[in-house]
Amino acid sequence: MARQTDGCENFRTVDREVILGVLASGRGSNLEAILEAIDQGWLRARVGVVISDQPEAYALARARQRDIPAITVLPGGFPSRRLFDAQIRRICEGHRIELVVLAGFMRVLGEEFINYYQGRIMNIHPSLLPAFPGRDAQRQAFDYGVKVAGCTVHLVDTGIDTGPIILQAAVPVLEGDTPDTLAERILREEHRIYPEAISLYCQGRLQIEGRRVRIAAER
Ligand code: GRF
Repeated sequence: MARQTDGCENFRTVDREVILGVLASGRGSNLEAILEAIDQGWLRARVGVVISDQPEAYALARARQRDIPAITVLPGGFPSRRLFDAQIRRICEGHRIELVVLAGFMRVLGEEFINYYQGRIMNIHPSLLPAFPGRDAQRQAFDYGVKVAGCTVHLVDTGIDTGPIILQAAVPVLEGDTPDTLAERILREEHRIYPEAISLYCQGRLQIEGRRVRIAAER
């Protein structure tokens, strides 16, 4: 695969439409935000496949409504996580996926899969990482009593929510908030920064230097 090289790592394939493979376990509101950004024309990419571990995930229905291949891969159908991951990789390869987009995918992908797609897997997490990794991040932040919460788009490495940070957005925690109202406010920011981060990738503007992701100026 042709890669851009300009001194630091840039995993973007040049001169080709970026095809996204979205992995989602639930309602798929981030998938929807990505699809809307594509429809609006400012995110120049295409969703080639949506994969879920949950047959009832609404994300799959959203994909089908737009004639995007929507595939369930049941973890129980595989004797090991490695083989489950291998099936996801096979599907991604079959759809010529360049960038894997985790959008509420509730499973941890193994090292082999992550190394294969190195620099080409993104995740959105509903906290200002490195604070509150793992599940129920909005509630963790709320219970901790923070005054500022937020969300993070990051590249995926083999840790849990530990990869290099691409974009973050902060939201205030207001008097009278509940974990749910806070989560809603965070989600609105997720819908803004996830398509934006993917667009930066598509423009070849993400340069990875160790833990730091530099954002190159617009060409
Ligand atoms: C989002 O809050 C995201 O940050 C987290 O899972 C949730 C997915 O929501 N990783 P949706 O399925 O995109 O609506």
